Amino acid sequence: MDRVILDWPNLGFHVRETDINVRCHYQGGEWGPLEFSDNHNLTIPMAATALHYGQSIFEGLKAFETVDGRVAIFRPDENAARMQYGARKLLMEAPPTSLFLEAVSELVRQNRRFVPPAGSGAALYLRPLLFGTSPLLGVRPAKEFTFCMFATPVGPYFRSVLSPIRLRVERESHRAAPLGIGDVKAAGNYAASMRSVGAAKHAGFDNVLYLDARESRYIDETGATNFFGIQSGDQHRYITPRSNSILASITNKSLMTIADDLGYLVEHRPIAVDELSSFDEAGACGTAAVITPIQEIVDSSGTYGYVAPGPVTRKLYDRLTGIQAGVMEDTHGWVHYVD
Ligand SMILES: Cc1ncc(COP(=O)(O)O)c(C=O)c1O
Repeated sequence: MDRVILDWPNLGFHVRETDINVRCHYQGGEWGPLEFSDNHNLTIPMAATALHYGQSIFEGLKAFETVDGRVAIFRPDENAARMQYGARKLLMEAPPTSLFLEAVSELVRQNRRFVPPAGSGAALYLRPLLFGTSPLLGVRPAKEFTFCMFATPVGPYFRSVLSPIRLRVERESHRAAPLGIGDVKAAGNYAASMRSVGAAKHAGFDNVLYLDARESRYIDETGATNFFGIQSGDQHRYITPRSNSILASITNKSLMTIADDLGYLVEHRPIAVDELSSFDEAGACGTAAVITPIQEIVDSSGTYGYVAPGPVTRKLYDRLTGIQAGVMEDTHGWVHYVD
């Protein structure tokens, strides 16, 4: 394998074309074969339900080169399950887990030369998409769907590894409604967040912290990550919001397990904004952001500062990335090897 030459430590989070992508069509009540292609475009009907009625969901996962030169994918079965959950909510047909995993593994194999070197802090990001392609005029679910996936090498989502960020509590809009589709990785949720995230960035922040849409009282999540707070003491506490309008982050789920393994108390419950003053550390977590320490949260109620990165955040980061890189024991069976 002749790896491509890229500036691995400074990749940023952008699309870079790789050799091959994969697509698969659901028609006549069944999934066709996986089609691998070097064409980076798709042709779909102009009247596809994805385009006007937003029948479109996606996923994000990463492949890492391990220290012994293998390629590890982190919990891809969870992404398959989350896509199936989202598809059920939006009346779509999702690829079965076996098809999803085959597409992931084969896509990584065929783009092996784009997998960043072990220890570079970069990864091969995989972006699966699922959308309705039936041409329909009335608001009805499609009968045909496309599942496709591309791969692109990426660095950290925010600046650099463990570099702290500043957030603004969003008081002028909400991301998603309770009993809505905030718990689905639906394309429209991200369109809905662009204005507030853009305004916050314009004002010098890295992202926003959304509040619940019913009372604007509880913390939901940022535009692209879950949130957690740490209380240090005799026994450390990992505290993360429970809400039906946030995405069930696979990173956060893993961190709750790791925190428990490390002997911390894990609290998965509604977190009122007033509690921001009770945390010693705070973080944003997700596949793209990994664990990004939060140094400051600015709200109309006050400004809250945190040690960033604090010792607990660092420990969680080391354990999570150690498992992903194959240098720490994968006691929970999270890593899926491509070969
Ligand atoms: C809104 C939102 N929340 C949370 C996450 C983190 O989820 P995960 O850890 O599964 O990547 C993401 C990214 O996927 C996201 O877009």
